[in-house]
Amino acid sequence: MRRKLIAGNWKMNGSLAANAVLLNGIKADLGQAACDVAVCVPAPYLAQCRAELAATPIGWGAQDISVHESGAYTGEVAAGMLLDFDCSYVIVGHSERRTYHAESSQLVAQKALRALNTELTPIVCVGESLAEREAGKTADVVGEQVDAVLAALNTEQLAKIVIAYEPVWAIGTGKTATPEMAQEVHAMLRAKLVEEDSTVAKGVKILYGGSMKPDNARELLAMPDIDGGLIGGASLKAADFLAIIHAA
Ligand code: 13P
Repeated sequence: MRRKLIAGNWKMNGSLAANAVLLNGIKADLGQAACDVAVCVPAPYLAQCRAELAATPIGWGAQDISVHESGAYTGEVAAGMLLDFDCSYVIVGHSERRTYHAESSQLVAQKALRALNTELTPIVCVGESLAEREAGKTADVVGEQVDAVLAALNTEQLAKIVIAYEPVWAIGTGKTATPEMAQEVHAMLRAKLVEEDSTVAKGVKILYGGSMKPDNARELLAMPDIDGGLIGGASLKAADFLAIIHAA
């Protein structure tokens, strides 16, 4: 049985003051969460997360890493630096990185490998655009994105990743995939993992992301291959994030 993971992706939001309110709100009412919980925050706030969350069951991490280990890469953050802040997770291949920073599936796969080699859990995002879905290309697009990762990782490494299916048209739009639409893609992703190793496939968490909110979380999370959520907007309000955690 896969334990669910509810991860917040704060994107480029927050301030020291606002984060303190948000994190204290989450901590205050977390209770005995029956799922794993994490927040992926802008790099400048990782020290704050460590200070606020170290004594809690909540994990933390970043939203991207460099594919390089260190060196002359101005503006980039190395995976190893995240270890200095006791991070457990890093998102790689978010559609906003693929779109605005032209990240290829091969680069994303190499970032996932970099994370694994640094003892971080990569949350590898995949997802199709609206035009791709309407053209009937969802399986091809998402398949190509995940195939690049499968090609780069061995089964031992594969067992340690988290995948997030985030249809681009559902991100920040208030439009969410129906549970059946999401389940169909999650099942396709699971089938690809089974082709690699059926035991590993059973253990890998596949999260759904894209306008997951308190009012739709329960039905999405009830689907057999939806193992949690990657939450954008609703992770910025303690009450909403907690409601999703409690739904899980
Ligand atoms: P929203 O929940 O705001 O749609 O964002 C989803 C997302 O992109 C999480 O990574």
